[in-house]
Amino acid sequence: MADANDVVVEAWNTILFDKFVRFRHLLIDGLAAHSDAALDRHPYPAGARVLDVGCGFGDSTLKIARGVGPSGAAVGVDCASRFVRAAEDDARAAGVANASFVVADVQADDLRGPYDFAFSRFGTMFFPLPGAALANVRRSLKPRGEFTMIVWRRREENPWLHEAEQRVRAIVPVVAHEDTDQVHCGPGPFSMAGPDMVSTMLRAVGYDRIAFERFDADICIGRDMDEAIAFAMALGPAGEIIRLAGDEGVRRGPQVEAALREALAPFVRADGVWGPSSTWIVSARSP
Ligand SMILES: C[S@@+](CC[C@H](N)C(=O)[O-])C[C@H]1O[C@@H](n2cnc3c(N)ncnc32)[C@H](O)[C@@H]1O
Repeated sequence: MADANDVVVEAWNTILFDKFVRFRHLLIDGLAAHSDAALDRHPYPAGARVLDVGCGFGDSTLKIARGVGPSGAAVGVDCASRFVRAAEDDARAAGVANASFVVADVQADDLRGPYDFAFSRFGTMFFPLPGAALANVRRSLKPRGEFTMIVWRRREENPWLHEAEQRVRAIVPVVAHEDTDQVHCGPGPFSMAGPDMVSTMLRAVGYDRIAFERFDADICIGRDMDEAIAFAMALGPAGEIIRLAGDEGVRRGPQVEAALREALAPFVRADGVWGPSSTWIVSARSP
């Protein structure tokens, strides 16, 4: 593997893509609660050209494309070609002609601007070089173009991820990214949880009018407890620890399952397992 970035791109295009497909029904509905809130608070005008950073399956790109209407356009960019191909298929099937998708590394590649706005739902927390990525997004914006990105707030406010990670850490030996040849997801979901660090980074790469708005929602993390446990063991910080531990992770599976059953019990409702979740809707302007 050539460098840290190749490792992350490879992870998103292989193991993480497969896991996202398996849990797509939970991910898209859960994550859309946050993007719907952001798009309600910051609607894009008809005719706008909008970049969707780290677009994944591109459901947010399609929503933006519908919002800006036929005179506007939404362009989804992702480093993983399998996400981009899936997004293109969905756009075609849905008949959304003003959405298009590009395979590109947001840290370095031409993002095909200029755009009136840029948007990202959980697409900016996994860059080995976040400053380079935020700078590149800014360069793709027109003067006074606004970037809105949704990022997880701190671990304690997202207990469905944090409690699972704590339980797994107590059972499975943790393999650091630098101590393994396996692919991994990069910095991780909480890497932009701190407003001081994020606002300093945004300012350093030339943004102004930086603002943080909080959004909270309970999201479905499993239609039943078994699915919630499988979800926690596959994705997020807990899932990464188990995967990187290899045979040890498999061997301690039954113990992990029992611990997660206990940890997730407070989140069980009549209609499934619902975890409290909390994000920052960060907005910043290119001067
Ligand atoms: C947590 S997923 C979010 C996907 C989507 N926005 C959503 O909310 O469902 C992060 C996405 O960022 C993409 N990504 C990670 N590093 C990237 C990079 N350097 N350039 C472009 N996309 C990247 C991944 O492939 C993945 O699709």
